[in-house]
Amino acid sequence: MPLIQGFSIDTIVNLAKATVLNPLALIVFLGYKAREADGWPERTGLVTTAYAFLSIYATTWLSNRWRNGLIPQRRLNSKTWPNEIVLVTGGAQGIAKSLSEKLAAKGANVAALDIVDFKSSHPNIKAYKCDISNYDDLKRIRSQIEKDFGGHVTMVANVAGLNNKSLILDLTPERVSRMIDVNLKSHFWTAMLFLPAMVKAKRGHFMSVASTMGFVGICHQSDYVATKHALVGMHESLHYEMQKMYKTPKVRMSTAIIGHTKTGLFEDFDVGPLGRFLGPKLEPSDVADQMLDAFESQDGKMILTPFMNNLTPSIKAHPWFTRDLIQAAAGGDGSYPSRPSASQLASSA
Ligand SMILES: NC(=O)c1ccc[n+]([C@@H]2O[C@H](COP(=O)([O-])OP(=O)(O)OC[C@H]3O[C@@H](n4cnc5c(N)ncnc54)[C@H](O)[C@@H]3O)[C@@H](O)[C@H]2O)c1
Repeated sequence: MPLIQGFSIDTIVNLAKATVLNPLALIVFLGYKAREADGWPERTGLVTTAYAFLSIYATTWLSNRWRNGLIPQRRLNSKTWPNEIVLVTGGAQGIAKSLSEKLAAKGANVAALDIVDFKSSHPNIKAYKCDISNYDDLKRIRSQIEKDFGGHVTMVANVAGLNNKSLILDLTPERVSRMIDVNLKSHFWTAMLFLPAMVKAKRGHFMSVASTMGFVGICHQSDYVATKHALVGMHESLHYEMQKMYKTPKVRMSTAIIGHTKTGLFEDFDVGPLGRFLGPKLEPSDVADQMLDAFESQDGKMILTPFMNNLTPSIKAHPWFTRDLIQAAAGGDGSYPSRPSASQLASSA
């Protein structure tokens, strides 16, 4: 993510990580203090802070290695990327379009799916029209991809999604069903159709884009929030199934817990100045970069961006007064203009 993109918490964090909180800078600082003290450095506030941040870096590293095996797999490179066939859903626009282009630039073979007709000028990207909520449609596309690329899909990026932006009493059964079909069931369909070949090959990567709303519920998003929460849970189960049942730990599972991104899907969502400071709007290409990095490193992970999303998984453990304070500061509630109608509120008595 660029260092400066409108002033926000991420600007401060990225600046600190590049300078005073850089792990190398912290080690040099502690080394200098140790030399000065001729032994263990005296426990000043700065020394304790340096220890604290170094242990956060160490824990993050260890957590990732614990999850993916102590010896990291080799990062994919210009020689190995061309062996990958990557399925990207929602490839016509937004995050998925950016990801498809980045994957293609690396040399990967990309099968980009969307419900709308689209074309890509990049020779490595093949566009397929497909409704991902339809299992049979996806099955047909799987055969077509295998024919076109001469192999099975080795990585999946489930990116396509819908947003109904409606209060509960304005939803219809059809819209709720459509939401669940596209934002949730489609991830089951791609898992059921594309994981078998990965399990047989004992390697692969299955990634889904969830959201901050995979952990946080806000007004106007009950159906969307429900699908994103479910997705987070589904991925956790699949991670353990790959490890413990199929004995294929190198079939990686990743989720992207992303905040507000500059695409059409949340165009009219505005959280106010404090909300924007805490959760700056992301560029689709920055999100795509982080997804690409997870694929390239061959590590399964939970991508958390912007910075404050590192704290969202713990939000449910907060007492309600801090929970409500965080909710108010983040500013998502009431961001959409619709309000309950007079007839919805009128008493029938
Ligand atoms: N934009 C944000 O602020 C934001 C925040 C958090 C999470 N997300 C998630 O990121 C993902 C990508 O969203 P985006 O912001 O790039 O949105 P986008 O609207 O730009 O792109 C979504 C794409 O999905 C396609 N699509 C929709 N239904 C489909 C279907 N049934 N079959 C095939 N394709 C279908 C659309 O045609 C579109 O091209 C979504 O899962 C979304 O929930 C977005």
